[in-house]
Amino acid sequence: MRGRLVAGNWKCNGNLGANQALLAALRDGLAQLRGVECSVCVPYPYLTQAQQALTGSTTVWGGQDLSQFGAGAYTGAVSADMLVEFGCRHAVVGHSERRSIFGESDAVVAAKFEVALKAGLTPILCVGETLQERESNVTEAVVGRQLAAVIDKSGVAALGKAVVAYEPVWAIGTGKTATPQQAQAVHAFIRGSVAAQDRALADGLRILYGGSVKASNAAELFTMNDIDGGLIGGASLVAEEFLAICRAAERR
Ligand code: 13P
Repeated sequence: MRGRLVAGNWKCNGNLGANQALLAALRDGLAQLRGVECSVCVPYPYLTQAQQALTGSTTVWGGQDLSQFGAGAYTGAVSADMLVEFGCRHAVVGHSERRSIFGESDAVVAAKFEVALKAGLTPILCVGETLQERESNVTEAVVGRQLAAVIDKSGVAALGKAVVAYEPVWAIGTGKTATPQQAQAVHAFIRGSVAAQDRALADGLRILYGGSVKASNAAELFTMNDIDGGLIGGASLVAEEFLAICRAAERR
């Protein structure tokens, strides 16, 4: 059976004081959970704080992005090795906000995925369609293209050391969650696309759902066959909400 993962994506939120309280609550609240790995992906300046607060706990942490380059003259960039040095397990790659606001192409996302993997990080590869794309019935074409960019560059076996997150853009931060059936359909498509190349790998691949997941809708989403956890934005900033979502993902 696939393990589950619930990852918080704090995005550009937080401050030292609020983070301290949140991290302490997660450290205590997540200690007893079974069958679910919990992670928080924090802004770069707070990686030290996350590392100090969570080292020795069951909760892991990660970055929300990384540079496709290594060390060198890349002003503003943060390399994979730097994330590793701060104890990161995960790196979110290809979040829709990176793609749309910061102009990251499929090729850039694929390059970031590869450097993350080579550094020993577990990339959380985000894919998902916009509302316009959904309404034009090209969801599978878009998600398939985003996935193929990574497989073409790194090979399908690389997905064995990664996590995929389906995040429909229209559901992110809008309060409009995909129904469990809508999400399941795309998750099954993703798993089926990978299975066409490697059945065993597809069976073990963790596919997270993200987009307005809350304590109130998490349990229903997690009942679906191909939903293996969540990538949580807004609700990951509220300890009780995030803890409840992680509890809903438990497999005892
Ligand atoms: P929300 O949970 O705030 O909708 O954000 C989802 C997301 O983008 C997680 O990466």
